[in-house]
Amino acid sequence: MSREEFIEQYYVERSGTNSVKWDGLKDRFSTTNLLPLWVADMDFKVPKEIQEKMLERIEHGVFGYSLVSDTYYESFIQWQKKRHNIEIKEEWIRFTTGVVNSFNYLIQAFTEEEESVLILAPVYYPFYDAVNNNNRHLVVSQLVNDKGSYSIDFNQFEADIIKMDVKLFLHCSPQNPVGRVWSKEELEQLFSICEKHQVKVISDEIHQDFIQPGKEFVSALSLKESYLDSVFVLSAPSKTFNIASLLHSHVLIPNEGLRNQYDIFAEKAVNNTISLMGTIATEAAYTHGETWLDELIQVIEYNYSVMKAMFEKELPHVLVSPKEATYLAWIDLSYYLKDQNIVEVMEKKAGIAIDYGEWFDKDHQSFIRMNLATKTENVVTATRKIIEALVN
Ligand SMILES: Cc1ncc(COP(=O)(O)O)c(C=O)c1O
Repeated sequence: MSREEFIEQYYVERSGTNSVKWDGLKDRFSTTNLLPLWVADMDFKVPKEIQEKMLERIEHGVFGYSLVSDTYYESFIQWQKKRHNIEIKEEWIRFTTGVVNSFNYLIQAFTEEEESVLILAPVYYPFYDAVNNNNRHLVVSQLVNDKGSYSIDFNQFEADIIKMDVKLFLHCSPQNPVGRVWSKEELEQLFSICEKHQVKVISDEIHQDFIQPGKEFVSALSLKESYLDSVFVLSAPSKTFNIASLLHSHVLIPNEGLRNQYDIFAEKAVNNTISLMGTIATEAAYTHGETWLDELIQVIEYNYSVMKAMFEKELPHVLVSPKEATYLAWIDLSYYLKDQNIVEVMEKKAGIAIDYGEWFDKDHQSFIRMNLATKTENVVTATRKIIEALVN
């Protein structure tokens, strides 16, 4: 179906549904009367097969403790094979109730208090919280920003690992918020440094399905065999199919020793992690959701190009980072902000709720992250309001 038809069929008004994005503004913003383009979920309904399978189960009427079916495993393994050319073995899979929970568990299970955990910034802000809240030592290695395009300073990365005796690297792949899909060469370099210094890697691949057409996502699971011995891969259907509240995600652990260690930890700390509705929705999504996802990606790519073109025309010094993945745009407003306060510009003047750059890295105060997973009209309205607020 066309972009317009997709929006017509799947866009849905969410105000008044206890949506964090639409109804939860008061905790983070100065006012609630704002057009929300913040929290990373979407204003689109799931593929209809997800709803149908969930409704079938609701009709059954019992929601007791549940197992995961063989067909579930098949659908997940097939999806990873078909979309990303990753070979996953069933025994690697563990279930959790969310990716943020997962990396918190892994930090607890595989590092001691005060040990160092490294992140590459700017990055999704719960990465900071997970390290700090677990009393680990946070090491922040900066990505290099060249006019909006981000890359890794491998010398700095290695120097930080050595200097701070880093034990664990929490990696975001693709990277939220800068939108990078890390290439095979970049990943090989990161992993070879980590292997050399015996640093374990958590690869958060939650954004793996939102890849710009023409780009290729490379999972940590498709690198050199030996890297599998020190990696944990986090994947989930929640971002891809807009089912975050169903609390269902995967931890993939190829190495048997690490898996056993995780299982011992999980037995005391991660009880009862099978979300019945989560598994039902996910199996339906992986089995029937591919066309829906490809159509959705067209909408997101279009929204990105419209927003970017508006800035280029009206405010050519706004730097919109190339978006290789995710449905989030990373935008540098520093040229126009000057001494204006970004919160005032966004909330008072433009009337929009957006993620502030500072949430992702303290040195990105004049950046915003815009959620593009909504109808085009909302993206155009928000962009117009930002442009007007910056020039007036
Ligand atoms: C990199 C990354 N990891 C994890 C999450 C959240 O995952 P969950 O809702 O499963 O905890 C997000 C949400 O935006 C994210 O961007």
